[in-house]
Amino acid sequence: MIKLDKVSKKFGTGAFGLVDINLSVDKKEFVFLVGPTGSGKTTIFRLLIREILPSEGTVIVNDWDLTKLPKHQIPHLRKKIGVVFQDLKLLFDRTVFENVLLPLEVTGVKMEKAKQIVEEVLTQVGIIEHKDKFPIQLSGGELQRTAIARALALSPEILLADEPTGNLDSATSWEIVKLLSDINEKGTTVIMATHNVDIVKNLSKRVVGLEKGKLVRDDKKKENPPSHKASDVAKAITDKSEGQRKKEDKV
Ligand SMILES: Nc1ncnc2c1ncn2[C@@H]1O[C@H](COP(=O)(O)OP(=O)(O)OP(=O)(O)O)[C@@H](O)[C@H]1O
Ligand SMILES: [Mg+2]
Repeated sequence: MIKLDKVSKKFGTGAFGLVDINLSVDKKEFVFLVGPTGSGKTTIFRLLIREILPSEGTVIVNDWDLTKLPKHQIPHLRKKIGVVFQDLKLLFDRTVFENVLLPLEVTGVKMEKAKQIVEEVLTQVGIIEHKDKFPIQLSGGELQRTAIARALALSPEILLADEPTGNLDSATSWEIVKLLSDINEKGTTVIMATHNVDIVKNLSKRVVGLEKGKLVRDDKKKENPPSHKASDVAKAITDKSEGQRKKEDKV
């Protein structure tokens, strides 16, 4: 469970990143976080992984009050939260396999087990055949999948994806959203920050909107019966991917 209670963030420059935000996200929810550039999306993610502290208010993640979390507990928090950073933060001198292995090495998972997990997550995100390549040898979509795989390596309860379709064509964007949706169906809470209006409009997911650091929208209502949910996503994705492919074929 995630809860931001009256959270404001004022930076040292005097700029406000967030203003009086109240937001709760339940376990296993999928939330789109939308808003123009500079509206505060990344700032929310940075608060959730305790990279920064709020100037006012409280940030709760899984019963931890992050404003009171002792420093030595931060690694425990970060094991629970996988992050796909806006700038990916992949290491360019390591292969796909080695990038995904890194969080497992750092947390002391035995090498044999760690390698097995890397194989599993790379298969899950569909890039196992690229495992020995370096990031420079990958497409934008493959780089995103590598960052998603790394975020999944420690089986997080929460996945934060910051603009994961930012530089991708429409068909690839839909594939990435399908992947995140599948991860969510398996029980992980997913928050995806995005500018992609097309994707947000076509999926019946909760949408939280920010503008100039303020929460201006929270469409919680879209509660489709569970039996429709997965098939709706799959259908929207298939329709969109095919439509876009046809359109792009013509270009
Ligand atoms: N370290 C910082 N110091 C000063 N101001 C900051 C800092 N980090 C963010 N800001 C400001 O806070 C506001 C929110 O930034 P944030 O990065 O959260 O926006 P965003 O919604 O993620 O934007 P984008 O869609 O471009 O990624 C912006 O006005 C930004 O300039
Ligand atoms: Mg951002």
